[in-house]
Amino acid sequence: MMRTSNCGQLNSRSVDREVTLVGWVDTRRDHGHLLFIDLRDRWGVTQVVFNSDHNAEVHRLAETLRTEFVVQVRGRVAKRPQGTDNKKIPTGEIEVIADSLDILNACPTPPFELGETSVNEELRLKYRFLDLRRKEMVEALTLRYRVSKIVRDYLDKKEFLEIETPYLTKSTPEGARDFLVPSRLNQGTFYALPQSPQLFKQLLMVAGYDRYFQLARCFRDEDLRSDRQPEHTQIDLEMSFVDEDDVMQLVEGMVADVAEKVLGLKLTRPFRTMDYDEAISRYGSDKPDLRFGLEIQDLSGLFRDSGFKVFDSVLDSGGKIRGLCFSVPAGQEFSRKTFDDLTEWIKNYGAKGLAWMKVQDGGQVESPIAKFFDAGRIARLIEMFQARPGDILFMVASTPAVSAAALGALRCHLAAHYGLIDQEKFEILWVKNFPLLDWDEESRRYVAMHHPFTSPRIEDLELLEKEPLKVKARAYDLVLNGTEIGGGSIRIHRQDVQERLFAVLGLTKEDAENKFGFLLKALTFGAPPHGGLAMGLDRFAAILLKRDSIREVIAFPKTQKGTCLMTEAPGEVSPLQLRELGITLKQ
Ligand code: AMO
Ligand code: AMP
Repeated sequence: MMRTSNCGQLNSRSVDREVTLVGWVDTRRDHGHLLFIDLRDRWGVTQVVFNSDHNAEVHRLAETLRTEFVVQVRGRVAKRPQGTDNKKIPTGEIEVIADSLDILNACPTPPFELGETSVNEELRLKYRFLDLRRKEMVEALTLRYRVSKIVRDYLDKKEFLEIETPYLTKSTPEGARDFLVPSRLNQGTFYALPQSPQLFKQLLMVAGYDRYFQLARCFRDEDLRSDRQPEHTQIDLEMSFVDEDDVMQLVEGMVADVAEKVLGLKLTRPFRTMDYDEAISRYGSDKPDLRFGLEIQDLSGLFRDSGFKVFDSVLDSGGKIRGLCFSVPAGQEFSRKTFDDLTEWIKNYGAKGLAWMKVQDGGQVESPIAKFFDAGRIARLIEMFQARPGDILFMVASTPAVSAAALGALRCHLAAHYGLIDQEKFEILWVKNFPLLDWDEESRRYVAMHHPFTSPRIEDLELLEKEPLKVKARAYDLVLNGTEIGGGSIRIHRQDVQERLFAVLGLTKEDAENKFGFLLKALTFGAPPHGGLAMGLDRFAAILLKRDSIREVIAFPKTQKGTCLMTEAPGEVSPLQLRELGITLKQ
């Protein structure tokens, strides 16, 4: 055996033991005849002392050590001299007095210091094998593993079976673009990497495998952000003979188990639920962050027939005026330029402008649009928000959707920028009663809000063709601190209903048959009622660890441009490979 202990294991009870440790040189401090190194592995660090009086030859060799060399050290555990112990680490009371040293491998000067916190991310990703040595990364990957282990154990106890489904498959519509894999054996045809195991898990229900789960990799070619990767991992599950509450209760138990076991946090159950409509109107988002207030209010009634043209024309064309009230934290500035910058910024969310009023003493407001409104209206506005002098009222007039989304974004922006978010909070809720469909202006057709296998509410079925936008879905999303960490639904299990929905989505009978014939067929062969959910493991782990990006909880993530800086994927392939696939590249 190359070691007797790991670098996080020894403590005052180990004093006088002869030990052998292996690991990396974390730091090196040379005090002449005494040379100290911190030896590191994934379990911790142990201080090793090379003393020239004790062993001159070993001390001489130790002088050649540099950071990140890999070494094996044999020696005796000793109590650190009084006043030199380090209470912050478990091994802080002891050190190992080295009797021998073997340098197992050298290392050039690393491109960044591992202890440094603000290293450029590109450099970290390029040298990910070094970056992963940092204790923050060890902590992240360890927690991630623990989450998946707790989840597996929980689901196992509930009699779920983990079943793998194919990666080389047909396109499944989760709304993103597919990654395609050309087939060599069937030239001119392509597999799609699954955006999720959705159809397979439904087919497993048809096959009678009630209670399936899988920690499944999902592939989506979409624009990447801090919480989106081209491949992510889902805790994917499906159950038969269930309704919404059955699935939600099961998932609550799982999330609560994880929160308790990894954070020692007891979540209140049942989790809070909120209707989609309420989430949109109060928070401007279907994934409301409830760690802070700044609630949005509908001001359409208050501003009706005000005479201010911008507002009147929006209201006349069926739009809404919504607003929120922001109390500038003490000591913070809100200059004219801040207003101008916000007005520019909010255009990203489709708003044409951002109206603002600064509340003064005595019920007056300072605002470029104050002159359009009489004192009564302004008084009612201040009353509605219970606004105090110094507060700022922001308003957006636009379509119902844009006014909500723009203010929802402003709400989050202000909270983040002015430090209103209590980072210790863990605000979890279900969002329910989503519309089944959305109207896509660009393609001028209805699209599924979740995916096209989501069941409409039974009582809304008769509206499906007549008033599609009024139909609600039997879907539920799990939202944690403003991030959607999971989503699921009760599925359509009847072929006639599935065909009707495909038709509303604009799929011809032929299209439906080509794309989903196997599903439609399976639904006729005794498909049970079923439903499920998938949680984003990367997002969940990132929030548990309070990391800003899911890249921090993935061993080898991709950049925002979908590249791997370490392997330099995606890369070119040889002409032979292309020829075998029957592919010619256009220059
Ligand atoms: P959905 O598309 O909502 O549902 O995905 C489920 C959860 O997966 C996470 N997620 C992602 N995480 C990182 N990067 C991405 N690109 C990414 N995309 C999604 C989110 C999301 O809530 N088959 C359905 C589930 C079902 O109906 O059972 C599905 O995939 O946290
Ligand atoms: P304008 O009439 O374009 O000069 O706008 C007057 C004020 O109203 C400016 O402060 C704009 O930012 C604001 N404003 C313009 N359009 C909107 C809108 N759709 N919603 C909210 N405020 C707006």
